[in-house]
Amino acid sequence: MLSDYRIRAAIILLAAALIGGSALLVSWLRSPESAGALIGGPFALTDQTGRQVTEQDFRGKLMLIYFGFVFCPDACPTALANMTDAIEQLGPAGEDVVPVFITVDPERDTEEVLRDYAEAFHPRLKALRGTPEQTAEVARAYRIYFKKAAETAPGEYLVDHSSIVFLMGRNGRYLTHFTHMTLPEPMAAEIKKRL
Ligand code: NI
Repeated sequence: MLSDYRIRAAIILLAAALIGGSALLVSWLRSPESAGALIGGPFALTDQTGRQVTEQDFRGKLMLIYFGFVFCPDACPTALANMTDAIEQLGPAGEDVVPVFITVDPERDTEEVLRDYAEAFHPRLKALRGTPEQTAEVARAYRIYFKKAAETAPGEYLVDHSSIVFLMGRNGRYLTHFTHMTLPEPMAAEIKKRL
């Protein structure tokens, strides 16, 4: 009888510890500090002028990064318009923020396509592409999901992708994030706090 009681008490204690532990883990995973530990990292890509770039080239500047594809009809142009407007609203201080677009469709988004696209948004926009492997790697580092949808005609397809605008610090570490719907004013205000 006594051992039965002890076993029951031990089970209850164990369950309580598990619940408490997972609650702590969940709150840690939701905190910005943990997100900072999980998002970003090294990358090696090519910009719209054919220059090799790595994350080291952006040290000392803030990066405002978005992943998408040029043929995207909605989220991508909205995100890039909001990002670049936010940077402009910061005035001269905005020069410390580099807008970065990383394509998840390097097959169609060639250097030339990216050059035209970048010019349409901002003179300092870095439009980056990699091999399929480099693209998968950088997307994994930023916890970005992307998947090519079925072709509707030869070469015509959409790419389903996460839509998050990341703000990375001068040391390359994650600071905060926005969505493509975040308007330029609140985005600029959040960036300003971290300049
Ligand atoms: Ni898009």
